Amino acid sequence: MTNKEIKIAFEEYYNLDELTPADKSLCLEAVKALATSHSPYSEFRVGAALRLKSGKIIHGSNQENVAYPSGLCAERVALFNWSANYADDPIECIAITAHTDNFELLKPVTPCGACLQVFAECENMQGKPMDVILYCQKGQIWKTNGVQSFLPFLFFEDRLQ
Ligand code: THU
Repeated sequence: MTNKEIKIAFEEYYNLDELTPADKSLCLEAVKALATSHSPYSEFRVGAALRLKSGKIIHGSNQENVAYPSGLCAERVALFNWSANYADDPIECIAITAHTDNFELLKPVTPCGACLQVFAECENMQGKPMDVILYCQKGQIWKTNGVQSFLPFLFFEDRLQ
């Protein structure tokens, strides 16, 4: 038996001005996407913004439904729009932010497991990882490269072969 360890690296920033201009602007695009959230049930808005290689920006926001499981997270709304309409233009970076009037969010919102599996599919489609920025407007900003930083044991398509 061997004990093995996986280490996860990420960058932590304390304000937007520490980021590159392109990353800062993508965080602000994620904030803009909050306005399109349909979240009457949780009252928790999530906004996502993708920056593609061409420079194009794609927004997504969480879309809830009275039949709760029919709703979708902001990340998947943005990523499915990309895979349906822009898959020939690779995703360089996704920024995610959240807001609620009900309490102060002091830590970045991290993507759920189902969204991470979709991150993995998109990375696989484009043949390379994307940067992920988790932007907390009143707290830290975390930046990682690639879905494997979050989900090192994710389900890989080569397991199907
Ligand atoms: N949500 C997202 O959109 N992204 C996440 O990363 C976490 C959760 C949404 C789903 C639901 O509309 C609301 O946040 C509360 O869970």
